[in-house]
Amino acid sequence: AQAENHTAISGKQILQVGPVNPTVAAALADEFGAARLPDGPERTEFLQRHADGVRVAVCSGRFGVDSDLMRQLPNLEAIVNFGVGYDATDVAQANERGIPISNTPDVLTDCVADTALALYLDVLRQTTAADRFVRRGEWESTPSYPLATRASSKKVGILGLGRIGKAIAKRLEAFGCEIHYHNRRPVEGSGYTYQASPTELAEAVDVLVIAAAGGPETANLVDAAVLAKLGPEGYLVNIARGTVVDEEALVSALTEGRLAGAGLDVFASEPHVPAELMELENVVLLPHVGSGTRETRADMAALTLENLRSYLRDASLVTPVG
Ligand code: DGY
Repeated sequence: AQAENHTAISGKQILQVGPVNPTVAAALADEFGAARLPDGPERTEFLQRHADGVRVAVCSGRFGVDSDLMRQLPNLEAIVNFGVGYDATDVAQANERGIPISNTPDVLTDCVADTALALYLDVLRQTTAADRFVRRGEWESTPSYPLATRASSKKVGILGLGRIGKAIAKRLEAFGCEIHYHNRRPVEGSGYTYQASPTELAEAVDVLVIAAAGGPETANLVDAAVLAKLGPEGYLVNIARGTVVDEEALVSALTEGRLAGAGLDVFASEPHVPAELMELENVVLLPHVGSGTRETRADMAALTLENLRSYLRDASLVTPVG
């Protein structure tokens, strides 16, 4: 029925929200003649003039179609999101209004899982910290570097055993790790040990890896109580969304030595990184680069544009969420 009612969409009926991947941005401008939502004071004027005409929005996991913007777009029909996470978009309002959303799953699973492993190895084996030690010229005066923590054969908890969580678990199996996980529901046939809550998961493992989707349902799931169960020998790795962790509680646990270390690709309010974390040697900080390889970003851009073209053709999305 959607396809039957579909009338051609073009030009400024397509709106780019926030900065997007350069390939997507170039195609939006050159191939589609799309409009870009301006920042600052021009935004209000733009919306007053053009909001009614907007039928498709193209956005990203960081700059989505939030509640306020969605309310100002009365004729919005579809949201095309670059990235697997779409928590910057008001999903509840989109569902209420029957606005479908597409994302870019699968193509980034391996890269994000690789990033989780990089952080896991780095924070336990202190490779980045040791590199800083060498660069500071301290090796000659301090011949023995502080000992690290063994990364093989650990008990690791995956919070969110979805596509990315499973890919991380598979990699950790190669390191002889024992995998536990928590999900809304047990995952049949995974072969890993299910824990009924994040707290029980943290209590059972040496390292907690967060791979859960962001959004209101997972906000602050890893709170002070969960971190306390991980304890002073425990490590946290987060490649999902900063909002899944109570960041204040995390900073306190790390600065007060109630957690052994953390490897973080994501933060509650990016690009803000709490200043206390910058001072800590046992914390590895990345600027949200989980999917950040040339190959994967090219695949994500291609899938984003495939979704857009598909919607413009017959009102269908190739990889709709939900
Ligand atoms: C995603 O795809 O959601 C990654 O976090 C990159 O934004």
